[in-house]
Amino acid sequence: MRSLADQKDKRASADMADRFDAGKWFDGKCIRPSIYTDPALFDLEMERVFGAGWVYLGHVSELPQPGSYKSTWIGKEPVILVRNASGDLRVLRNRCRHRGATVCQEERGQARHFSCAYHGWTYDLDGRLVAMPEPDGYRGVVSAAELPLLPAATVDDYRGLIFASLNADVAPLREYLKPALPYMDEFLDQGAPWELAVAGQFKLLARANWKLILENSTDGYHFQYTHRSYLNLVDTEQGERHRVAKGTSVRFVRALGNGHGVIHGPRSSSNEARRPRIAPREWDRFVEQAHRDHPEQADRMIASSVGSFMNVCLFPNVSLSDLFLRELRPIAVDLTEVRHTVFKLVGAPDIANEIRLRIHESFNGPGGLGNTDDVEAWRRVQEGVQAAPDQWVLLNRGLMRESDDGEGGRVSDGSDETAMRGAYTEWARLMSAGGASR
Ligand code: FES
Ligand SMILES: [Fe+2]
Repeated sequence: MRSLADQKDKRASADMADRFDAGKWFDGKCIRPSIYTDPALFDLEMERVFGAGWVYLGHVSELPQPGSYKSTWIGKEPVILVRNASGDLRVLRNRCRHRGATVCQEERGQARHFSCAYHGWTYDLDGRLVAMPEPDGYRGVVSAAELPLLPAATVDDYRGLIFASLNADVAPLREYLKPALPYMDEFLDQGAPWELAVAGQFKLLARANWKLILENSTDGYHFQYTHRSYLNLVDTEQGERHRVAKGTSVRFVRALGNGHGVIHGPRSSSNEARRPRIAPREWDRFVEQAHRDHPEQADRMIASSVGSFMNVCLFPNVSLSDLFLRELRPIAVDLTEVRHTVFKLVGAPDIANEIRLRIHESFNGPGGLGNTDDVEAWRRVQEGVQAAPDQWVLLNRGLMRESDDGEGGRVSDGSDETAMRGAYTEWARLMSAGGASR
């Protein structure tokens, strides 16, 4: 029997959906913390943001041949991203048509079919039900042809970055990505002409709402405070504070439109200026070896190995950073899975790819000096806002100095919260509209 509390919760959720007023959570400059703590709001986000728009699922290099698959999520919906026998990408809901069990448990692999472990129903790479044990029990009731794994409504990729949507009425992918395309190209061309391919991944659970992690992708204000211990280490090792910690005036942040944002640093031309903030000894060895063994490619190899010093954040669940991307999977209102995917350069000398891995590990890796700081900062915000879900917090840094960027977005100093405001503007639009249709 459902408890009275359950029934009250259901009524509150229905009421929120019917009379959604985004201004109760975001007024353009502040955030009501229940945006990070309210389970009913989280459920509505899964429907109106993750269930209705484009969600990043993976990179083509993760699916090299027919039968390659990756199990992942679109909001609360488990899905299988798979290359079918003809080599086309499919996104299938990972939910057996018999009793609803997930049919694929592995995170990735090679398969000819997906077989449900509960009663043995088996589906091919296009989701068709091809085996139903003891079919006599269904004669005249249902046929296998009626019961494929349900597909996502649409799947598409931009230069190898794969997105899918559960909403057939969603705007075309390129339209949705358009404001961010120049920065996406900058990320994708970081090692040109060498192509990017996945070199490795790791994931972690953050005890924080997914939007806190999304915000962090364009937060240029936190670096020298959150990552102070790392900067102190760099001081000790290098005798000077790295450029990223020296003020913010040379960086900019932009709200690009459609909820996307970018924080961009200066490009450096000298090898000394490029010297990364972490793994300095490995870096010196790399530079020496690159010049010695690959004199003609050395400069390009060195430049591409440190990336472009940029984060481009694609609403709602992925940010492309130097060398890697960060994917978010909301699990509960206060729990998010974070996946990092590091990229190598296909065909580049091994030393270039080795230094890329070392650079990522040292700062953004599972035990990296930077990633661990950020995870703790998100947890602390979650803990703080849970105590006072109605006491508004600030999102107004730089309001007086941001300006139009001439392309429909807003631009400001790299420490400002301009891109976060852009993300919440899109959040409010989707939540109010009841979906991401065009
Ligand atoms: S739930 Fe999958 S075969 Fe029964
Ligand atoms: Fe950080």
